[in-house]
Amino acid sequence: MIYQNISNMKYRILLASLVLLTACAEKSQNDLIEQKVDDMLSQMTLEEKVGQLHQISAWGDAASMHDEVAAGRIGSILNFVDPVEINKLQRVAVEESRLGIPLLIARDVIHGYNTILPIPLGQAASFDPELVEQGARMAAVEASADGIRWTFAPMIDISRDARWGRIAESCGEDPYLASVMGVAMVRGFQGDSLNDPTAIAACAKHYAGYGAAEGGRDYNAANIPERQLRNVYLPPFEAVAKAGAQTFMSSFNEIDGVPSTANPFLLNDVLRGEWGFDGFVVTDWNSAGELMAHGVCVDKPDLVEKSINSGVDMDMMTYGFIEELPQLVEEGKVKQSVLDEAVRRVLRVKYRLGLFDNPYVDESLSDKVSLTPENLALARKAAVESVILLKNEGDVLPLGANVKSVAVVGPMAHMKYDQLGTWAFDGVSDRTVTPLEAIREIPGITVNYEPAFDSTRDKSTAGIPTAISAARRSDVVIAIVGEEAILSGEAHSLADISLKGAQNELIRQLSATGKPLVLIVMAGRPLTIGEQIEQSDAVFYSFHPGTMGGAAIADLLWGVEAPSGRTPVTFPKMVGQIPIYYNHTNTGRPFQGNETLLDDIPLKAGQTSLGCTSFYLDAGVEPLYPFGYGLTYTTFEYGEPRLSANEFSVDDTLTVETNITNTGSREATEVAQLYVRDLVGSISRPVRELKAFKRVNIKPGETVTVEFRLPISELAFYGFDYTRKVEPGEFNLWVCHDSNSGTPVSFTVK
Ligand code: GLC
Repeated sequence: MIYQNISNMKYRILLASLVLLTACAEKSQNDLIEQKVDDMLSQMTLEEKVGQLHQISAWGDAASMHDEVAAGRIGSILNFVDPVEINKLQRVAVEESRLGIPLLIARDVIHGYNTILPIPLGQAASFDPELVEQGARMAAVEASADGIRWTFAPMIDISRDARWGRIAESCGEDPYLASVMGVAMVRGFQGDSLNDPTAIAACAKHYAGYGAAEGGRDYNAANIPERQLRNVYLPPFEAVAKAGAQTFMSSFNEIDGVPSTANPFLLNDVLRGEWGFDGFVVTDWNSAGELMAHGVCVDKPDLVEKSINSGVDMDMMTYGFIEELPQLVEEGKVKQSVLDEAVRRVLRVKYRLGLFDNPYVDESLSDKVSLTPENLALARKAAVESVILLKNEGDVLPLGANVKSVAVVGPMAHMKYDQLGTWAFDGVSDRTVTPLEAIREIPGITVNYEPAFDSTRDKSTAGIPTAISAARRSDVVIAIVGEEAILSGEAHSLADISLKGAQNELIRQLSATGKPLVLIVMAGRPLTIGEQIEQSDAVFYSFHPGTMGGAAIADLLWGVEAPSGRTPVTFPKMVGQIPIYYNHTNTGRPFQGNETLLDDIPLKAGQTSLGCTSFYLDAGVEPLYPFGYGLTYTTFEYGEPRLSANEFSVDDTLTVETNITNTGSREATEVAQLYVRDLVGSISRPVRELKAFKRVNIKPGETVTVEFRLPISELAFYGFDYTRKVEPGEFNLWVCHDSNSGTPVSFTVK
């Protein structure tokens, strides 16, 4: 035993020294970089400093931007993706400008680069952060091969409003899920070492509160009280800041009248003061310039003074910093120290990325690393895991050998460009595999294809009869509908989120044929498709699934893969229910479930006869589907959660074990979710909050024990006094299938 102890001791000493060595190495690396930054800063003129804070969108080839770059008047360029031209312009920066400071080349690499992954809302539906990290890593390798070293992602705006077109780019409504997915993307983009040539700096956006745009109308005002800002909208940003995201992007919107691009509370007090962020902040496109439209600045000098003094470092496309900063510094309206700190942050990131040592890209690399079989396989896996099975009446899915012919109908069955979804600038749509193409590859199946429409907005019903006749001569109907890519994303909000054009009429008539109807919806947001779901036997929801979406859908239809996607955002029954989300507070008059709905109201009903609780007469309060919901090709049964204790102190870690049994006939993956409820707090607390989740693969008849370890400190929130802490008291805890299921157990925090 003594020997054993000694060897343990040796092991511990070795481990401790390794950790210490690593920490020392990192510290010395950081110190070295700080030294280089200081040295460079000390040599820079006022104009050169200002040049580093100026970001432009490429207006042509390298030659067209030569003079500005040679004069050191540009620090970063976005939308410049030709590696040959990037190298030419980088050579101007490094070899012709006085100090040789390299350019930082940026692009919106949001969900893949050439190989397009499902839109982020679809990736969030996978509840698979490891896969999401792999996807971001793949995107970084492809993008950096073109000379791009900075992406404007992850987009981690919490969104509870499907009218907002940019919900497509988000990770949904839940702060924990968005935090986990945001961190996974940062890790994937930035890799293990920032100075690796395949690392691209991440950018947490849009900081902050952009997803709370009133009415879901893009760019609209957001009114978020500080406690809600801190408890709901900021956690994903804090998580990615602490995960090492190198940049942040200030958002277009105002919060309570204060535009985020001129909000020192957000940019300095919280981001730097509380979270210790030492990267740099770039504005969103001309969001500094828009301070005048917001009515908080009178002219360009004013907006420049206000934004940089609020904590913005780099100006995207206002041309305000480059034009006004020298004068403002001369006048003392912007302190030299403020300017220097902004430049220091930009230089720091450029040094960390290794751009000074390795500014050029291998121009032959892109063809070798993009759209490779491995990348396409990863995109296919990501698409498979992003698709949500909403309904499967009579187990019509997976399709079996008895199906000899299928009608593939609908406007999204073969749309190579639109299947990629929003923000897929560098996707290669010719490489998209559509559902039609994938289904045609399945041996022994006759495919009767009828698009029925020219687009998802086509109001003409002229194409429906041929689709109906295709359905009549087929064993099964696969209707693929939804939204073209342009109907979601930036500036694409909708007041009505039902299917457009004559798609609903097509589905109604297909249903009337009596053939088994499988509905597949490809969209950038949840849609109000309750009636269409009732008319269908099975429904897959696929947030624009990317390059390999068609192959993934075919794998799922024929059971090569079992679905595992879960709703990352609540699906409303009606648009009038919005905002609707699972982690709501209880109110003083919570819905009881026995309320009288519109059609059952007796004539001449008395004023208060229907009960006075919080619901809609014409829609109740229940969503179409709750957060975390999704079916698969088997069923799972949860045992009662078993807690490691019933009482905990704040420093404890709660362990909970739950048995989950596959009670069906085929292997599949369950996404076990852990929710808590703080029953009484200094402020009203959500009826449920997701605190952990785990994908677990279970064979038919098998029972597995899923364990979660939850530090009690994770229960902290900003309470009545605006401080973050765990408040003692009773809690409920669920380990269950979705945000609306399960039976809670309780525990106490002392
Ligand atoms: C856009 C978007 C932002 C994007 C930026 C650069 O307006 O709001 O998400 O990263 O401009 O394209």
